[in-house]
Amino acid sequence: MGRTLLVTGGAGFIGSNYVHYVLGSQPEDRVVVLDKLTYAGNLDNLKSLVDDPRYHFVQGDICDAETVARVLDAHGVDAIVNFAAETHVDRSIADPDAFIRTDVLGTHTLLEAARERGMRYHQVSTDEVYGHVPEGASVETDPLEPRSPYAASKAGGDLLVNAYFVTYGLHTTITRGSNNIGPFQYPEKVLPLFATNAMEGEMLPVYGDGLQERDYQWVGDHCEAIDLVLRRGAPGEAYNVGTGTSITNMEMTQLVLETLGKDRGLIRHVADRPGHDRRYCIDTAKIRALGWRSRHTPQEAIRESVRWYVDNEWWWRPIKSGAFKAYYQEMYGSRGDYQAG
Ligand code: NAD
Ligand code: DAU
Repeated sequence: MGRTLLVTGGAGFIGSNYVHYVLGSQPEDRVVVLDKLTYAGNLDNLKSLVDDPRYHFVQGDICDAETVARVLDAHGVDAIVNFAAETHVDRSIADPDAFIRTDVLGTHTLLEAARERGMRYHQVSTDEVYGHVPEGASVETDPLEPRSPYAASKAGGDLLVNAYFVTYGLHTTITRGSNNIGPFQYPEKVLPLFATNAMEGEMLPVYGDGLQERDYQWVGDHCEAIDLVLRRGAPGEAYNVGTGTSITNMEMTQLVLETLGKDRGLIRHVADRPGHDRRYCIDTAKIRALGWRSRHTPQEAIRESVRWYVDNEWWWRPIKSGAFKAYYQEMYGSRGDYQAG
């Protein structure tokens, strides 16, 4: 018997990859996407599915309880998988309001709808809720110590999910993923920004010394893990998802340039992000105990991602020539060079 999933934020990067994963691997499943189509939502990400009768798209806001109720009831939804969020750390530093609204209040709206219907709920969260990890690796029971407005709003969402499990007995799960890379990632994020800038002969703005560490994982691996937790995760539990290996941003940048055959002279060290978390690293033993394995190393994921942007200029060129230009100018135009020490 197939499932009917409400995938919120399904027109974004990871959400759309998840929709492709579910419909590609589960012939009986149906997916309803609810997405506000903010600057980050893009129907091009889902356009190969428009003729699939198992896929249905609704434009709407997860903060709007009436819309959420109408969609859940009209489509006989079995479970909510919540990807919808404001997601870019730099934007959260410039203007946190939308982050608190969608990532906290939106999560609350969905949880209420799930509680009223006794519905399975999965929250897609992030390793950023643990904050900077100077050494070792974060386990799921570690305290949440978020340091950016984005991370704080995501941590708020996680805490609400936990409260709905404890107080109301709602069947919830959470996954905390590390940095995803792959097809359909909006080019404000570092990998598509650097790959497409290099292809255009533009500078690659590395924040600070570039020795910050991130666990870059292939988005398809993350999607598999989310679906496994939705099926087999224990109620009330959180699961870290990543390769378990973090590399520096300089290593990632050099690999991007090497894959494209471009010169290191394109690298420019610029002023650092305020409050920049130096290192994230997660322990993935818990999700591996469910039977999941990461299929790509960070290096493989980086190379494969870069090749996707090389092969899919139709997707990113219209984005970079639109409103993105003003964003880029505002974010990077007056950013000074990095001063060491
Ligand atoms: P994204 O920014 O590419 O997409 C977000 C989507 O949510 C967009 O389609 C947008 O239109 C939609 N959206 C935003 N506000 C909405 C609202 N109020 N109502 C309905 N839809 C709304 O994000 P992403 O990178 O795909 O991230 C998806 C989820 O995964 C987020 O919850 C994020 O916190 C989490 N996450 C991301 C990463 C990563 O590396 N990108 C890693 C771990 C976890
Ligand atoms: O760790 C998971 C998180 O990964 C997700 O929860 C977030 O939604 C997602 O945006 C991502 O957050 P990061 O801040 O790690 O991703 P971003 O691509 O913005 O930056 C990755 C690293 O690269 C980070 O150390 C900052 C650095 N960076 C980023 C940009 C945009 C640069 O050096 N230069 C840049 O221009």
